[in-house]
Amino acid sequence: MSSIAIITGATGGLGQEFVKEALKENIDEIWAVARNEKKLGYLKAEFGDRVCSVRCDLSNTDDLSNLFGLIETQRPDIRLLINNAGIGKMGASMEFTDDDILKEIDINCKAVCLLCNHAIPFMSEGSRILNISSASSFQPVPYINLYAAGKAFVRSYTRSLNAELKSKGIVCTAVCPGWIDTDMLQKEYNGKPVKFPGIVSPGRVAVQAMRDSAKGKDMSVCSLFVKYEHFLSKILPHKWLMKIWMNGIKDYV
Ligand SMILES: NC(=O)c1ccc[n+]([C@@H]2O[C@H](COP(=O)([O-])OP(=O)(O)OC[C@H]3O[C@@H](n4cnc5c(N)ncnc54)[C@H](OP(=O)(O)O)[C@@H]3O)[C@@H](O)[C@H]2O)c1
Repeated sequence: MSSIAIITGATGGLGQEFVKEALKENIDEIWAVARNEKKLGYLKAEFGDRVCSVRCDLSNTDDLSNLFGLIETQRPDIRLLINNAGIGKMGASMEFTDDDILKEIDINCKAVCLLCNHAIPFMSEGSRILNISSASSFQPVPYINLYAAGKAFVRSYTRSLNAELKSKGIVCTAVCPGWIDTDMLQKEYNGKPVKFPGIVSPGRVAVQAMRDSAKGKDMSVCSLFVKYEHFLSKILPHKWLMKIWMNGIKDYV
């Protein structure tokens, strides 16, 4: 039986760093999940034959069923599941189409829970799940409302799952980074560079997340900056924090 890691969004900025970290572990294969076959091909070319491409659109029910079917037929020993794929649209909630809303919920929330439930039967003591949440889960965040609400869902879901799976020896970690320097971020607005306070490299987030999950933590917060934000979100009224945020984004909305 092969030991495997499943990493969604493996071709993206943070996903690739998780692939690098997973390759350092005693795992036979990394199932790299994403939509773009060309990028999956580059990933395999860069990281070698231990990387297996699994083309899957996580917002597509048939693609998800195929992925679950693959798990059930191969019956691998899943040592790591990293639900990393995510999308985030900025803007006023009323500007979102039905499709925007459903897609974001499908990828950021629904696929995470479904993949956990289909993978857990093939996990054993010492296996780990990392679900990528965000510092935006700490408080309501206007103009990335749906994204932040979805990430709060992921954080809560993951920490509860960790408690439920304790008796099986499976650790679940909600990874809560602040801004990460990846293609997900719109770096310019109206010709001006956008400021991202406390931005860090994806490598730093992945290394810290893997370290925290190996230690059995149910949450991973990477930098001092985000730890401070987390602390403030516990002691200050969220109305104040939303005002500070709104002031910070007034040039962009
Ligand atoms: N960047 C930040 O500032 C930041 C901060 C906090 C948390 N995060 C979270 O970190 C995670 C990784 O983000 P990132 O910054 O690395 O983003 P990214 O560079 O945009 O990568 C996103 C990845 O998700 C995949 N993906 C997108 N839609 C998909 C779909 N429908 N089905 C399957 N795969 C899909 C993409 O591959 P394909 O396009 O080929 O499918 C890509 O591999 C996300 O959950 C994000 O919410 C990011």
